[in-house]
Amino acid sequence: MENKRVFKLSPRLKLCSNMVRSGTKLVDVGTDHAYLPIWLAMNGIIKSAIAADLRDGPLKIANQNILKYGVENIVKVRLSDGLKKISSEEAEDIVIAGMGGNLIFDIIKSTNWLKDKNKNMIIQPMSYFKEIRELLILNSYDIYEEKIVLSEGKIYVVMRVGYSEKISLKGDLFPYIGLLENSEKLNVIEYSYIEREIRNLNNKLFGFISMGLVNEADKLKNIIEKLKEFINERNKDF
Ligand SMILES: C[S@@+](CC[C@H](N)C(=O)[O-])C[C@H]1O[C@@H](n2cnc3c(N)ncnc32)[C@H](O)[C@@H]1O
Repeated sequence: MENKRVFKLSPRLKLCSNMVRSGTKLVDVGTDHAYLPIWLAMNGIIKSAIAADLRDGPLKIANQNILKYGVENIVKVRLSDGLKKISSEEAEDIVIAGMGGNLIFDIIKSTNWLKDKNKNMIIQPMSYFKEIRELLILNSYDIYEEKIVLSEGKIYVVMRVGYSEKISLKGDLFPYIGLLENSEKLNVIEYSYIEREIRNLNNKLFGFISMGLVNEADKLKNIIEKLKEFINERNKDF
């Protein structure tokens, strides 16, 4: 009985879970421990879930956790590289969290059935943020929601993404700070996220300058100035 008490998700996975629609069939790609689908099943949020992973080891642990928390009727494990072994009928909401942005984009790009406006994707890339935003838009996937969270001392970005024939207009700062570019107010986590972005871009700028790449350096300087203006002009919610 004790084991079956609902556990607490990390703030990062909790944010991902908040973007899953209720009553849907979920696929958690790269599930590892399967905490996300188990928590959603225990809270009665999803209809079914496939906890998928590339490797047997994590799936074994996922299966133990599924049994421990008594959700074996709702959550099933599946060995799959990305979404290769999952069919469209099995997936309404798809979570891909805790992986490199390039890998997440490859998984999306190689799954034709994701080109469907009814599919809801929740992605949490660990890297490659600018590139994944640009690539998604270029491939007709719009970002509908983007949130920043502090979890276990680190800042993470979670995006809700879907296929769309009509991508909403994005501004100059979108590749760097995503939908935060539309915010009038910034909380302390969002502010820190943009500050981190500015620091990373400054490092890149020094690289361009030391390599004598004048045009690239000028373009980047301009973006950095715009980002600095952006945070100075916003109201701070802290
Ligand atoms: C860092 S864990 C993330 C676990 C969980 N999604 C989370 O966010 O806490 C990454 C997991 O992705 C799995 N993985 C890596 N490449 C994959 C692929 N191409 N397809 C499916 N799973 C993959 C790994 O085996 C590992 O279990």
